[in-house]
Amino acid sequence: MFDSIAIVGATGAVGRLIRDMLQEREFPYERITFLASNRSAGTTIGFKGEKHTVQELRPEAFSGIDLAIGSTPDPVAKEFVPWALERDCVVVDESGYWRMDPKVPLVIPEVNPEAVHEHQGIIASPNCSTTQMVVALKPLHDAGRVRRVVVSTYQATSGAGVGGQRDLEEGTRAALNGGSHKYETFAHPIAFNLIPQIGSQKHAGYTSEEMKMVYETHKILGDDTIRICPTCVRVPVSNCHSESISVETERKIGVDEARELFASFPGIKVIDDLPNGKYPKPSDCDGDDAVFIGRIREDLSCDNGLAFWCVSDNLRKGAATNAVQIAELLVRIQAAVG
Ligand SMILES: NC(=O)c1ccc[n+]([C@@H]2O[C@H](COP(=O)([O-])OP(=O)(O)OC[C@H]3O[C@@H](n4cnc5c(N)ncnc54)[C@H](OP(=O)(O)O)[C@@H]3O)[C@@H](O)[C@H]2O)c1
Repeated sequence: MFDSIAIVGATGAVGRLIRDMLQEREFPYERITFLASNRSAGTTIGFKGEKHTVQELRPEAFSGIDLAIGSTPDPVAKEFVPWALERDCVVVDESGYWRMDPKVPLVIPEVNPEAVHEHQGIIASPNCSTTQMVVALKPLHDAGRVRRVVVSTYQATSGAGVGGQRDLEEGTRAALNGGSHKYETFAHPIAFNLIPQIGSQKHAGYTSEEMKMVYETHKILGDDTIRICPTCVRVPVSNCHSESISVETERKIGVDEARELFASFPGIKVIDDLPNGKYPKPSDCDGDDAVFIGRIREDLSCDNGLAFWCVSDNLRKGAATNAVQIAELLVRIQAAVG
């Protein structure tokens, strides 16, 4: 058990969920500290029936902390993680900053839990759109070796944090009332619209979010020969990312076999009944830790192709749940070595 833990970015969209998750999953600890920017320092957070004052994120804040779960913007993670490591504090980090560092394991507990053992003080949790796709790909890859993936995402505004949710709500209200809203998180109006750009221009016409799906999938599955073509789109849905995924495998995996593989994989729930209009929708998956899969069918455009629809709560399995599961793995490893 870690005696003293901290949540870094405790006031953010993911940080709030991490707080809930620690309670829900009865994560063991003696003392807890909530850290955020100087904007939130001094405000209070109610947690397990007690009021806690949010502290400003500074190097000294990590003195005496054994484990920190971080969910801050990348530049903040770049700065604070070394402060924690210098003070022997282990960090589970949600940001994108450390994920591709070769010394840092990038972990989805259902997919590559063994990677946690290699950690040197920091373990990264993947991007939300990567996590749900890789959970879905893993049983197919084990059974038939995934060779190619074409994926289009339909990403909720909560993926852009508290500011993204505010832009959707206030922008929609303003549009319905005939008024205007100054979008702060998104570069274009998101109300009644789609934005086919998430992140900055990164490589060969792909965005940073799209290339995260490529690089992180290769790292987690330990196979950089898988060819991936992602298109990431922001949609006016408050929470839960959806993905349309087409996979080509070395060995053909039929629809029935795929359904069985998905259904028996930990963390996946299958809802697949097209004649009765049953398939995963963001509104059904909100607040659930699973990766939902439906619309499983043969990809008619190639020989060994399979197409399906995948939805998951980006704030939970895409972020907070995965980070807390990693922390639980660390607790189990600690207990095992005594
Ligand atoms: N949202 C998702 O679905 C999702 C999924 C996977 C990973 N992530 C990653 O998780 C991280 C957090 O995302 P989010 O959606 O929770 O964002 P958010 O709602 O904007 O929250 C950001 C958090 O970081 C804190 N913060 C910002 N600047 C800071 C600074 N200079 N010093 C200290 N703390 C600072 C904020 O504190 P204040 O409240 O004081 O500003 C807040 O607690 C990001 O790296 C994101 O890419 C997000």
